[in-house]
Amino acid sequence: MDKELLKKLDDFIRVRLNEKRYRHTMGVVETAAKLAERYGADTEKAYVAALFHDACKNLDIDEMNSLVEKYHIGDVYIDKPQLAHSKLAAAIIRDRFGIDDEDIINAISYHTTGRAEMSLLEKIIYVSDAVEPNRSYPGVEKFHRLAFEDLDRAGYEIANNAIRLVTEAGMYLDNDSVAARDWFQSILDNDSLENSRKFAVYVANIIDSKRGSDIVVLDISEKSSFADYFVIASGSSFRQTSALAEYVQERADMHGRFVSSIEGRDGSGWVLMDYGDVIVNIFVPEKREKYDLEKIWSDCGTVDWEA
Ligand SMILES: [Fe+2]
Ligand SMILES: [Fe+2]
Repeated sequence: MDKELLKKLDDFIRVRLNEKRYRHTMGVVETAAKLAERYGADTEKAYVAALFHDACKNLDIDEMNSLVEKYHIGDVYIDKPQLAHSKLAAAIIRDRFGIDDEDIINAISYHTTGRAEMSLLEKIIYVSDAVEPNRSYPGVEKFHRLAFEDLDRAGYEIANNAIRLVTEAGMYLDNDSVAARDWFQSILDNDSLENSRKFAVYVANIIDSKRGSDIVVLDISEKSSFADYFVIASGSSFRQTSALAEYVQERADMHGRFVSSIEGRDGSGWVLMDYGDVIVNIFVPEKREKYDLEKIWSDCGTVDWEA
């Protein structure tokens, strides 16, 4: 992007932002640059989006409302400066400055609410806005640290916090804020279940919630070439072992964890579900005793799945 255009963007905000807001903006610029570096995003786009994100924040309400109308932002944004300023900055950077990069536009447009399916740049601007060094509110240090460790977790915490504050204040809660929070949540769920230990623990809890009993998670990773964990549990009857297996499968499917084979659902009293790195064994008590997997694998450690 040419220097002249960047200078024009800076001139635009300098005359429109008060001192505090300009300092905040520079804080977002600085944080977004570091996060772009950290996560491999385009640093120039991050700079432009951060610089302009709050360009309309200090406009008075009448001017905002008339711009909302001029740019057809939507009636829902009338008299809602805390939301409208994002949409207006996105419209103006396109209209007045000819910047039509969709990623920059969206990062500006959704910096307040976030949304589902955010791009990396959108996430960086959304998170930077909340954690830049001039921000001071309970929890901000934690969010700042998280931003550099795990951007999605930071996004989730920030979205959750924002929803709580808006709800407590009785303010208008935008659908995109909720969609953002739920989306971050789903990323965290899926991430964690790719990890075999977490998945084994998750399955143990699923079985527990459906009254499976004597649940044991064995770490067989050191001793076995075919899997990392065994989940072993008992159902009180053939029917319950099948029902438990079905429920495990249903829940795992929802997290993109698909079983590669299931054996023993025909009433043999031992249902074996192969998830690759995790093998789930659900027995009726007699069969569990007979095959005694825990004895065979007795030199393997157990995992505290209830923790
Ligand atoms: Fe803002
Ligand atoms: Fe901001």
